Amino acid sequence: MKRKISIALDGPAASGKSTTARLLAKKLSYLYIDTGAMYRAATLAALRAGVDMSDEKLVEICVKENRIRLRLEMGEQITLLNDENVNSQIRTPEINSVISVLSSYAGVRREMVAQQRELAKAGGVVMDGRDIGTVVLPDAELKVFMIATLQARAQRRLLELQKNGESVTYEEVEREIANRDKLDTSRSHSPLKKAEGARELDTSNLSIEQQVKIIYNWAREITMTPPDNPLSALSGA
Ligand code: DC
Repeated sequence: MKRKISIALDGPAASGKSTTARLLAKKLSYLYIDTGAMYRAATLAALRAGVDMSDEKLVEICVKENRIRLRLEMGEQITLLNDENVNSQIRTPEINSVISVLSSYAGVRREMVAQQRELAKAGGVVMDGRDIGTVVLPDAELKVFMIATLQARAQRRLLELQKNGESVTYEEVEREIANRDKLDTSRSHSPLKKAEGARELDTSNLSIEQQVKIIYNWAREITMTPPDNPLSALSGA
């Protein structure tokens, strides 16, 4: 594929976005940007600082004072909080339980969105999150909205947490995801919703390989099509 495009992947918690986005980026030799990891690192920073999460101004100041970066190391995305690798600390039930509060704040989102646009400036990116197609990259050539049943998502997240050594039950995970769905879709700033022009992909019964293949083929179709049709310019259409 010659032309480099921007790909926006949005969807609810545990819909398979991150794994799909990472593998897709690898297949395309694109940069993968996990925006959820940035909000997670910001939440960790606020928790460590002991900031009262309901104090919007203080949370915003705390996020601005901490340096959150993403780096690729030997094919793996590393999330850095003030140069410390926090990959395993940001995927815990504690972070999950308060992240929706932090990510509902406009000032925090402004900070994150500015960084994310900067990262995507050169094109050739796969970015996943909640507001990528709607706010961060509204001009992305390919927008995908990934969905899956609550049960399929809870099952996937349970396995991920257990792999991380967390002892949680299926019921706890399902409750936490349902709660986050509600908060992510109902917040007033950049709520999770399908972007205009986004293609919907239901991953409930798809393997990761199948998801990657479907989106890869969509990307291929787009990169094979010239951006401007010279004939339409000639005909004045
Ligand atoms: O994708 P994830 O589960 O790692 O995201 C964690 C939380 O971060 C999610 O519940 C909402 C928030 N988030 C957001 O508000 N906007 C994004 N672009 C990405 C994540």
